Amino acid sequence: MAADSSLELFRATEVELPFVMATERLEGYEELVGRWDEARHRAALSDGRHAYFIARIADQPVGFAIVRDWASPEKMTLIKRVAVCDPNRGHGRALLGALVEAVFNGTDAYRLWLGVFPENVRGRRAYEAAGFGAEGVARGSAYFGGRHRDELIMSILRSEWAAG
Ligand SMILES: CC(C)(COP(=O)(O)OP(=O)(O)OC[C@H]1O[C@@H](n2cnc3c(N)ncnc32)[C@H](O)[C@@H]1OP(=O)(O)O)[C@@H](O)C(=O)NCCC(=O)NCCS
Repeated sequence: MAADSSLELFRATEVELPFVMATERLEGYEELVGRWDEARHRAALSDGRHAYFIARIADQPVGFAIVRDWASPEKMTLIKRVAVCDPNRGHGRALLGALVEAVFNGTDAYRLWLGVFPENVRGRRAYEAAGFGAEGVARGSAYFGGRHRDELIMSILRSEWAAG
């Protein structure tokens, strides 16, 4: 499905934490994304290192993204977590497209990257649609649910975004 051009992305505050926490806890997401308790989210929101974004369509929140190393001196930024509440409708592609714009327009980041569990084909497709390319598998790079899991590393560089 085509990305929804009516999607808006805005910086979240603690007001949006209930939506973020409910979305990361949706049934079926437990094997795909991490979940933090409220204290951990509040700490991240105020640590100067993380930036939270909410995507909305027609004034309704449809998804969120947590970015780490926002405007970092190393000029590398990580998409720590992303989830939408109604998958497979193009919202993820649109959210990620808007997030790429926000990172490269809003900071001087050179590299935007993420790790996705290799079996998460839906996530991979959405990232590819937003311009991310696969780099390789980082073995055991996520300690998740008491297990060491591999992650596929994907990235987009500023030069690729600018050429896109
Ligand atoms: C990952 C996520 C954000 C993507 O958002 P989304 O709105 O579902 O994605 P989109 O609808 O924009 O795009 C999904 C793509 O995957 C494809 N897809 C979906 N299920 C698939 C499957 N089982 N096999 C192959 N492709 C699949 C869709 O066809 C679409 O690709 P296309 O546009 O090229 O046809 C969302 O699915 C989500 O929140 N998932 C749970 C949390 C998660 O996995 N987060 C990412 C962790 S790194």
